[in-house]
Amino acid sequence: MHDSMTVKNKTQINIVLNQQKEKLKTESALFVKEEKLDKHLPLKKVEKELSALVGMEELKQIVKEIYAWLYVNKCREEQNLKVEKQVLHMMFKGNPGTGKTTVARLLGHLFYEMNVLSKGHLIEAERADLVGEYIGHTAQKTRDLIKRAIGGILFIDEAYSLARGGEKDFGKEAIDTLVKAMEDQQHDFILILAGYSNEMDKFLRLNPGLPSRFPIKITFPDYKVDELMEIARKMITERQYMFTKESEWKLRQHLQKICANPEKSFSNGRYIRNVIEKAVRKQSVRLLREDRNDRKALMTIEADDLQVE
Ligand SMILES: Nc1ncnc2c1ncn2[C@@H]1O[C@H](COP(=O)(O)OP(=O)(O)O)[C@@H](O)[C@H]1O
Ligand SMILES: [Mg+2]
Repeated sequence: MHDSMTVKNKTQINIVLNQQKEKLKTESALFVKEEKLDKHLPLKKVEKELSALVGMEELKQIVKEIYAWLYVNKCREEQNLKVEKQVLHMMFKGNPGTGKTTVARLLGHLFYEMNVLSKGHLIEAERADLVGEYIGHTAQKTRDLIKRAIGGILFIDEAYSLARGGEKDFGKEAIDTLVKAMEDQQHDFILILAGYSNEMDKFLRLNPGLPSRFPIKITFPDYKVDELMEIARKMITERQYMFTKESEWKLRQHLQKICANPEKSFSNGRYIRNVIEKAVRKQSVRLLREDRNDRKALMTIEADDLQVE
């Protein structure tokens, strides 16, 4: 067991993703014998998807643990052995752009592959999707949303905003409706509450009945410069572009500056995506002006294309 992963009582798992931790052993060696891998197709598929994510070593680890746990429970069931109730509701804590939605979507795929969820789709929601304007409206809206999420994952971003208005606020009604649905339909959908770390902690303190309903808690730390650069390289390679030495250097310098003193609104992976999309547009304008359309030019992002002042 990792030192940053503590198993509190039977099913409570608490992990902190720490990219600085020593690299985990290779997947197959760690987990399933090579020749048995065919028996574990869902794991194989999901590992492929996970490998597209930069860093997140401990997340990758816990996904495998969940897989193993579900698999062994299935085997135990076949042998008429007692099986612990599988509660897979989760809490994701981290700043914007740290990969929470991406990971939620991927878990949907995993649980679908494993027959834990019948559809595996992701429904993303925020306060306005749940909270209505008059008594009874909220419960109705929330129930409708849950209905859409049946068979998949209901992902509620900035979940603490449900507690915003205090006792008289309809947000509380949304929370109560969600809790009821979790009890009624434990196996039909997975609820993930997500948001900034501090706000989530405060929200949980104000709702003492909640934490125990979310046995899996995952922390998404901000990316370091190297990781952001790797994300950037992955993103442009995927789009069939490439940096020059100069443009790569320019981006790194810029990220170093930002990461040394990040604003609260700095959005990690999403920021990188925006920078790249902007650069691609700038590059098009430049190519038009320069009247160039050779393959290399079409693929190259020059330093001037990066607007990162
Ligand atoms: N570890 C990662 N590796 C590759 N891309 C990432 C990673 N984390 C985030 N991204 C990218 O950053 C963007 C924002 O991620 P997202 O999952 O929406 O973050 P959040 O939900 O935490 O705000 C997405 O385009 C995603 O693909
Ligand atoms: Mg998100």
